[in-house]
Amino acid sequence: MKSIVIRQPNELVLEDRDIPQPAVGEVRVKIKLAGICGSDSHIYRGHNPFAKYPRVIGHEFFGVIDAVGEGVSDARLGERVSVDPVISCGECYPCSIGKPNVCTSLVVLGVHRDGGFSEYAVVPAGNAWTIPDSIEDKHAVMVEPFTIAANVTGQAQPIEQDVALIYGAGPMGLVTVQALKGVYKVKQVIVVDRIAERLAMAERCGADWTFDNSSQSLQTALEEKGIRPTLIVDAACHPSILQEAVNLASPAGRIVLMGFSSDPSQVAQQGITGKELTVYSSRLNANKFPVVIDWLKKGLIDPDKLITHVMDYRHVSDAIERFEKDQKHCCKVLLTFAV
Ligand code: NAI
Ligand code: MN
Ligand code: ZN
Repeated sequence: MKSIVIRQPNELVLEDRDIPQPAVGEVRVKIKLAGICGSDSHIYRGHNPFAKYPRVIGHEFFGVIDAVGEGVSDARLGERVSVDPVISCGECYPCSIGKPNVCTSLVVLGVHRDGGFSEYAVVPAGNAWTIPDSIEDKHAVMVEPFTIAANVTGQAQPIEQDVALIYGAGPMGLVTVQALKGVYKVKQVIVVDRIAERLAMAERCGADWTFDNSSQSLQTALEEKGIRPTLIVDAACHPSILQEAVNLASPAGRIVLMGFSSDPSQVAQQGITGKELTVYSSRLNANKFPVVIDWLKKGLIDPDKLITHVMDYRHVSDAIERFEKDQKHCCKVLLTFAV
């Protein structure tokens, strides 16, 4: 089989590997579609401190179970599945309180262990979530990115009367917009970015109002309109955003951070305590695959609004390069595997 392997930073190869056999408790998935994410590009370019090389990247993938290991029912053969990349121990403190996404021995497929940019992948049976026939392949491969939004909203518990402000109209901002509008029916969702094309995508995803902060001050614009956001999600993830969010937030507001920058954010405690703000963080997803599969079944979200490119996996270098260089026109790029 062919696998997309990052041998070392900046060296991507299509490697011939033996088709893997599922071990006890595992299934083998014949991959049909996989999605490119910023973290794949970070591992490729050597910007992910957790990555070990060589590595088969890819943590957003969908396919069909074509072999099962010992202890897994044959009945699962032929099942269409989306794979949760979060592998956890089930016993540590975070696991015991329902946060396997921050397990003390966390393993993420495509980061710490070989992932889904491959013709076949073996994964724990419990990570392979059955996709109902009513959900099409292209939507099934988008479950993982939407689980990030499910995790963010699971932390912040949006309500209809929230005034939400989302920083960043990249894939992560857009899935969050869709969750807030489609699932939680939040009345007012504002999105801020610096790229007009991305703000247009945010509008297509349901944003009520978008703002380009490349040349104008968001704070001034919100003050003029008398808007004080009650829920702010930072899906742009620059360290300077936290202080601005604290300034803009309504008293009793919530802020959700998603970034992994190692640079400090400077923020005065007074701004947080004076308004009794709640600051959440959100990493990957905690058991959100069934939640998003249910959203898709009910038609509450529309992954098509994020998919801009579908390319053959043999063109992966070109696909990643476009994804990195063309933020105006590229959002979610899918790779097709099965012939
Ligand atoms: P992206 O880079 O495609 O999107 C970020 C967007 O933010 C861009 O459109 C950019 O123009 C905009 N932006 C940057 N600085 C801004 C500012 N000061 N004000 C307004 N807009 C600004 O990235 P993607 O894939 O949407 O991911 C967003 C962030 O989320 C990344 O930093 C990524 O590391 C993080 N992330 C976190 C996850 C988690 O589980 N916590 C999961 C996936 C991504
Ligand atoms: Mn992803
Ligand atoms: Zn654990």
